[in-house]
Parts: sequence; C-alpha cells; structure tokens
Amino acid sequence: MENQVNAMPRIGDLAPEFQATTTQGEINFPNDFSGKWKILFSHPADFTPVCTSEFMTFASMQEEFDRLNCQLVGLSVDGLHSHIAWLRTIHDKIEWKGFKNLEVKFPLIVDITMDVANLYGMIQPGEASTAAVRAVFFIDPSNKIRTIMYYPLSLGRNFDEIKRVLIGLQTVDNFGVALPADWRPGDEVIVPPAGSCGVAKSRMAGEDKDMHCYDWFFCTKKISKEQVEEKLGK
Ligand code: BEZ
Repeated sequence: MENQVNAMPRIGDLAPEFQATTTQGEINFPNDFSGKWKILFSHPADFTPVCTSEFMTFASMQEEFDRLNCQLVGLSVDGLHSHIAWLRTIHDKIEWKGFKNLEVKFPLIVDITMDVANLYGMIQPGEASTAAVRAVFFIDPSNKIRTIMYYPLSLGRNFDEIKRVLIGLQTVDNFGVALPADWRPGDEVIVPPAGSCGVAKSRMAGEDKDMHCYDWFFCTKKISKEQVEEKLGK
C-alpha cells in the first residue's frame, strides 16, 4: 500500500476492513467485532505523556464500555515490543490522578507501515507525517461509521464526551429520536418532525400530552435516565 492515497472514510460508510497484529493477537477489523459497537482510536506515539494519560483514562473506563457493548481498539505507528513495554510501564510504574496499576485490556494495533492509519485518514501531514493524529471512529454493530472526531497531537481527548456520544448514538437507535445540544441521559429528546399539516396542527393544539412543542417543527418528549439505562444495559 506504499504511497497509496485513500479517500478518508466518512460518516455512513462501512468501516474499511483490515487485518492487523495487536497486543491481544491478530485481528480482522471490523468483522471480528460485528454485533458490537466499536471505538477505533489512534494516538501519536507510545511513551508520550498525553497518550499515557489517555490510555489510563480509557483503561479506567473499560467496564463502562463493556456494559455498553463497545469494543475499544487503539492504534499507533509503533511496533509490538514498544506497545508491550509501554503498557507494562503504565501498569507497573505510572500513578496519575488516583489511577494506578491499570491494565490495558483492549487491543493496541501495531501499525509501523502506517497502512491502517492511512486507510482511516489518521495521518494528517500538516500536523505530522509519521505519527497519527488523535482520531476517534464510532462504528455501530453493523460496521457502519456513525461519528468521527479528530484532535491534534497536543490536546488530549474528552472521555466524558466520547462516552456521551456512544450513549447518544445508542439512544438515537433504540428510541428513534434525535438529541438536542448538550443532551445527557434524562434530558428531553426530540421527536421526529411532523410529516403532515394534520400532525403539525395536532401537535400545536397540544393533543399529545407527553410532548412539548416549542413550534410545530420542534417538539420534545421525556425519556427518563432509567429508561435509557435499562435499554442500553448500563
Ligand atoms: C503526547 O502524547 O504527549 C504527545 C505526542 C505527540 C506530540 C505531542 C504530545
């Protein structure tokens, strides 16, 4: 795949397939994880401080992602021995923000050739030509890309937002709704827009007592935090 230029994957595309060596053995992505949500994320390099803080945060949240039926898969342009040594250092030596002895249980892809990083548009030469930027791909159980985030090398990701996006996507799918700005479980959700003049009129007349309409095209309803948690198996 030398010098191959790939179109960057987009929201709605099927996740590009690849085979790779990881710290948990060989994987075929995304097919090995079909039926689960997947977060595929890249980081610039092993043994660097921002990346270490991110790995410790992801590792500390492993059970939360398990409960959400989500497989984490990391990647950097480093070799297997470097990955293993770095993860051992994190476990054995690093204490940060109250986290210590953290075991990274998710696979970390070896991508010395940058094949996978190029396939997913993780190499952005204006930022770095030999290291991946901080990309995050949210991929659904049918292997479709649903959300993409990119951060530069110098800025660590917001893991609360990563979890919020995963829960948000699952809520959209499970309840057939849209979600307003800054939505969190328990907040009101947006019902699909009125599809006829009759529905618009009845909504504005307040005929559905479970709905609150700010105008005919902007109606919300309550889904409790408990309902979201029950459905998502949190
Ligand atoms: C870091 O993870 O600390 C880092 C990596 C590459 C460039 C800058 C910071």
